Amino acid sequence: MNTQSPNQLTIHQPDDWHVHLRDGEMLAAVADYTAQQFGRAIVMPNLAPPITTVDAAKAYRDRILSAVSSAHHFTPLMTCYLTDSIDPQEIEAGFTQGVFTACKLYPANATTNSAHGVTDIDNITAALETMQRIGMPLLVHGEVTDSDIDIFDREAVFIERVMAKLLSRFPDLKIVFEHITTKDAVNFVMNSGSNIAATITPHHLVYNRSAIFAGGINPHLYCLPIAKREVHRLALRKAATSGSAKFFLGTDSAPHTVENKQSACGCAGVFNAPYAIESYAQTFEEEGALDKLEGFASLYGPAFYGLKPNSRKIILERQPITAPPTLTVMDTQIIPFHAGEVLTWRLAGFA
Ligand code: NCD
Ligand code: ZN
Repeated sequence: MNTQSPNQLTIHQPDDWHVHLRDGEMLAAVADYTAQQFGRAIVMPNLAPPITTVDAAKAYRDRILSAVSSAHHFTPLMTCYLTDSIDPQEIEAGFTQGVFTACKLYPANATTNSAHGVTDIDNITAALETMQRIGMPLLVHGEVTDSDIDIFDREAVFIERVMAKLLSRFPDLKIVFEHITTKDAVNFVMNSGSNIAATITPHHLVYNRSAIFAGGINPHLYCLPIAKREVHRLALRKAATSGSAKFFLGTDSAPHTVENKQSACGCAGVFNAPYAIESYAQTFEEEGALDKLEGFASLYGPAFYGLKPNSRKIILERQPITAPPTLTVMDTQIIPFHAGEVLTWRLAGFA
């Protein structure tokens, strides 16, 4: 931390190690919210159809760069969506050429646009061996999909059934356990080697599963993995603010239109990009850990990926701002995270 006063905080510019930027009109509408605060972002490949080739990733990267305002200095880091039939040579070529930064493992049907995901990790052994050999990180959506496993238990069961197997078969593979939501995942990551890390979203630090149903059903708080009990939220807050380099920032910002959220079968995803760093800053302040924000937001992620921190700095100021209740996107709206709430910190500029 270079500068810290009660009212101002200057830290290296953060990166977002997990974001959904979408495509087409939605991409055009949301890209700047991420680019205005983050230097880099790991872009999820769950488009329809998913990004499974180097050419598709290059073309998507170009569309992202065209959607971002030229005022921002933003680098999208692309990922390859693993399928049962993924070609390990394509993965290696993409990584070597600097197009793919990582591969994403969605268990088939775990979440939005994951129908092409992996049905059994035995089907991607060759891809995982390649990734282990070349030092390419595996990003894991850690939930089992079995309908007989309760939705609130799917992450914990994934640790037993899949993570343990991944670690024993590929002991040197770099793995990011993404958007963790349980104390089980915190403990698993803490007790694993330095090749295992986790991202934590702003929203899982802020509310628990009861909030989703407080006063009626709140579809804008529904995301996957779903928020868990309070004991888990507290474990996540402790991990994020602990100063451990194993936990770093990943928003999982996942925009859906208001029609797709407020529906009889509403989509999973929280759109938190507009005030992500502000939300994290508030959580870290509440935990008395503002001095740990820079590590979590700006240093541990790059270190895990073997990259340098951004050279630019951001200035956060203690100044109340009200998050807008809705954002107009295309011909409709998105209800962002913290809609209508007052946040304590504000991104004031760059240094
Ligand atoms: C994501 C989406 O909408 O693409 N939704 C979510 O709830 N997080 C998919 C995902 O990352 O699970
Ligand atoms: Zn996601």
